[in-house]
Amino acid sequence: MEHFIKAPERGIIEELLQWAKEAKQNPYSNKSLGENKTLGLVFLNPSLRTRMSTQKAAFNLGMNVMVLNMGQEAWALETKEGVVMDGDKAEHAKEAIAVMGQYCDILGVRSFPSLQDREADYKEEVIELFLRYAQKPIISLESATRHPLQSLADLLTIEELTPDWKPKIVLTWAPHIRALPQAVPNSFAEWVLKAGHDLTITHPRGYELSEEFTKGASIEYDQQKALQEADIVYVKNWSSYHEYGQILTRDPEWMLTQDKWAVTANASVMHCLPVRRNLVLADDILDSKASVVIQQAGNREFAAQAALKHLLLENYGF
Ligand code: CP
Repeated sequence: MEHFIKAPERGIIEELLQWAKEAKQNPYSNKSLGENKTLGLVFLNPSLRTRMSTQKAAFNLGMNVMVLNMGQEAWALETKEGVVMDGDKAEHAKEAIAVMGQYCDILGVRSFPSLQDREADYKEEVIELFLRYAQKPIISLESATRHPLQSLADLLTIEELTPDWKPKIVLTWAPHIRALPQAVPNSFAEWVLKAGHDLTITHPRGYELSEEFTKGASIEYDQQKALQEADIVYVKNWSSYHEYGQILTRDPEWMLTQDKWAVTANASVMHCLPVRRNLVLADDILDSKASVVIQQAGNREFAAQAALKHLLLENYGF
């Protein structure tokens, strides 16, 4: 069974990008592909873009969609093995996921990390439960360590911005008041490198990501050096991987401003959103022509459409 939970091999990435471009040109050309197929979208955490873009993508393919917010509209799920369920969790994931698999042909799930227990988070316990019990193709709507739908949209955006040359791509850490997951930067590095791009990552010392995702990237601790002549600057906060889930600094000097951006090659500035203005990214960047965050978010629909098309074709053989 084919799933969509991490970066596939380069040939598949290229095919997905081609399909995403075609979907953007003509969103309804595969309207019969998902006919009589049901997509379930299960959210254990909040979402705006992933929720709306994946629903829209499924509608474009003619699918039916059901969205479930666990713990609000459905029973709070217990995910641990062998526990006495005498707390606030009313249903075990084993039954709930198996039941959802009865109703759906593809199941999407969003499950953020605890940021308390690195081993458990990086084992992707919730995704693993869905893989084990749903008996249906699984699409990640952002897991503890990856956000593949975001990364595919990011690659599509980079291709649109730099169609004819190999861009200098820089991923830069930014400050934040809360400890955030590593899923977006992990996944961005994984997809960009697998797609054959070079990648420079800049962050304060202590914010090194897992080498599982960044092997092949250049690490530059001096942000201004990293930004020199960049064509694409991807801004994102993440908490420490090595001192797991910790905020090691909130240094405002790491926020991207027009002054810092000036050393780039007129770079396009990306962020997955939501973004906290004047904490992560300055108004003078977000409100400038350099910002492509809306184009990037718009591409989420076509990335999701390509991923769903892939799962429908691979698993249901149309
Ligand atoms: N970028 C992203 O995944 O946005 P949401 O959290 O709003 O879905």
